[in-house]
Amino acid sequence: MRRFIALLLFSSVAVFGKAMAEDTEQLNGLLLKNQCLSCHLIDKRKYGPVLREIAAKYSGDASATEKLAAKIKAGGTGVWGEDIMPPQAHVSDADAKQLATMILALEAKK
Ligand code: HEC
Repeated sequence: MRRFIALLLFSSVAVFGKAMAEDTEQLNGLLLKNQCLSCHLIDKRKYGPVLREIAAKYSGDASATEKLAAKIKAGGTGVWGEDIMPPQAHVSDADAKQLATMILALEAKK
């Protein structure tokens, strides 16, 4: 019985871990397609804020998805310091929304 529980625990962790990796992979693909990676990485500081830190900052903010989707397209400055994010006019509305959703979802899976 113990072994069964251990096996059950182990396989659920493995399945969960795989789902997490796939989500990050999907996000990275979208970041690549929309040319965000030159400034943002999920876990490492580049020019712009670390994406996981963005997720933490807006955790619990119900309007964050809309807000960030709009900011992704419009760019801006002053929230994270003085660096400027240029407008990303090439990003479609659908991609902006999905990027915002997936970036915010990083907070839930640390
Ligand atoms: C030239 C570099 C650059 C590029 C390219 C860039 N960003 Fe940014 N991004 C920044 C900087 C700098 C900030 C901080 C702006 C601020 O402090 O208001 C930022 C902020 C953000 C924020 C947080 C906004 C906030 O108000 O808290 C999000 C989300 C974001 N970027 C997503 C993206 C996505 C998605 C892309 C690709 C479509 C992208 N960025 C492309 C530099 C960049």
